[in-house]
Amino acid sequence: MKIGVINVTAPHEKRVAITPDATKKLKKLGFDVIVASGAGREAYYTDQAYESAGASIASSDAEVLSQADMIALVHDLTPDQISQLSAGKIVVGMLDPYRNDNLDAYAKQGVTVYAMELLPRTLSRAQNMDVLSSQANLAGYKAVLMAANEYVRPFPMFMTSAGTVKPAKVVILGVGVAGLQAIATAKRLGAVVEASDLRPSVREQVESVGGKWLDVPMSDEEKEKAKATGGYAWTPSEQYMKDQAIVVDKAVSNADIVITTAQIPGRNAPRLIHKATIDKMKAGSVIIDMAASTGGNVEGNVSGETVMTDNGVRIIGAANIPALLAAQSSDLYANNLVNFITTFLDAEQVKAGGAPKLIVDMNDEIQGALAVTHDGQVRLQKR
Ligand code: NAI
Repeated sequence: MKIGVINVTAPHEKRVAITPDATKKLKKLGFDVIVASGAGREAYYTDQAYESAGASIASSDAEVLSQADMIALVHDLTPDQISQLSAGKIVVGMLDPYRNDNLDAYAKQGVTVYAMELLPRTLSRAQNMDVLSSQANLAGYKAVLMAANEYVRPFPMFMTSAGTVKPAKVVILGVGVAGLQAIATAKRLGAVVEASDLRPSVREQVESVGGKWLDVPMSDEEKEKAKATGGYAWTPSEQYMKDQAIVVDKAVSNADIVITTAQIPGRNAPRLIHKATIDKMKAGSVIIDMAASTGGNVEGNVSGETVMTDNGVRIIGAANIPALLAAQSSDLYANNLVNFITTFLDAEQVKAGGAPKLIVDMNDEIQGALAVTHDGQVRLQKR
């Protein structure tokens, strides 16, 4: 059985789905790996490194698409590439399933497609396959470095003979995996950090990494709602949004750096910062909108671009921060994929040795949750 890797063509992308290290792991499991020439170049993995790890190098992506039984992707294929796939092939990647227009085409080709974002995150045996966490953790760290680089003052407090330098005030909105890492990183750089999320259970985590919790008042009914969503965002009431807007306006208008990470799986990102608040910020302040690719949390953001407002605030629409750490983010992503690929193995067969089969099993709780097309059908329920 062959696992294939192709070049990524999506804008701002530099990651590769399988690294040379992951190739070694797959070879050890008994798989063959075929890599299109240059597929790892942007993440600093050469064809030679793949060859040394035991992969064969194909001269084109088309060759990989025709030879591999499973194609490991970072992003989706193009419609033209999908039309080249024969029935029975398997595709695995971060496929943005709820906004993916290619699912009918995959189903028509008879391809089984797994979207890694759909992993049930509370399942303990799936935690080492959690691509959202592995990528968001790196993104949260890098977002702070980007902000520090753009900011025209330092982060820590300095007492010098020429005067005292005040620490930067950083506000983080949305404290999932990325937000929590951003708080920890900004604290390590010496900033004063405040953070908020609509899940009140996050308060303890914010405080444990040295952040100050920005509290938005909640009714008992809302607290119950927040608990019932299994850790994901709940749909806030109008009153909550009004109260949140007041808290956000006060904190953000006094901040030097703002990093927003609030996302809702399968939907557009909530708008948390409005122009009226940005208008009150100091010149030189920096906002990094990490939700820019799903619409953004910040009014005026443009995905993939930096916008300078009339009052001198830069809004950075961060389109794909994990790609800025392409070597590391590819390593972790590839590990997640290798762990997922083990769900296709038959334990008895592995023990017996020999070439493994990729067993597609919709009754497996992980495969069943991730499969968006199978057997000629689209399985994903749109939100
Ligand atoms: P995400 O990327 O989906 O969203 C980021 C944060 O934004 C979330 O904390 C969310 O509550 C917040 N948010 C959304 N709308 C908001 C609004 N209107 N106002 C303020 N904040 C808002 O989050 P991520 O990092 O994917 O984590 C999602 C959940 O999954 C979290 O509860 C996290 O703890 C949980 N998780 C669980 C794991 C496990 O059990 N093994 C592993 C990783 C994450």
